[in-house]
Amino acid sequence: MAARIQIINGPNLNLLGKRQPDIYGHETLDDVAADCTALAADLGLDLQFYQSNHEGGIIDCIHAARDTCAGIVINPGAYTHTSVAILDALNTFEGFVIECHISNVHKRERFRHHSYVSLRADGVIAGFGTEGYQLALRRLATLVTG
Ligand code: DQA
Repeated sequence: MAARIQIINGPNLNLLGKRQPDIYGHETLDDVAADCTALAADLGLDLQFYQSNHEGGIIDCIHAARDTCAGIVINPGAYTHTSVAILDALNTFEGFVIECHISNVHKRERFRHHSYVSLRADGVIAGFGTEGYQLALRRLATLVTG
């Protein structure tokens, strides 16, 4: 059976393509989902895609991934820098976790340099634009097939 992967996007990422395109590019979240779905099929992964502007929704999605998913790709948006609750939820998940940021957060404001999620992530991707999601999927494919 194909390993199931959950991609999770946090607040404001529903506006991808319209929101600060100089930083986040012109691709929409639907474009990202379509690209990832095609790649996942090639890699033999079963992909689920989720976005929420609400911390609790993201936490519920992480809980639902427990026992059903082998890996999570998460771009928690601004919650990256603030949410102990999302870190705690990820710590209940036993599969692989890749943290993904479209922009290079380390080149930006100081408050974006700290990530709670990085304390749990098995890998971190930042600054590769929306291509980062595909890089994360490729890495998970390697990890889940051992
Ligand atoms: C982001 C970086 C965060 O600092 C920001 O709050 C976002 C998007 C990124 O993908 O580059 O919403 O996670």
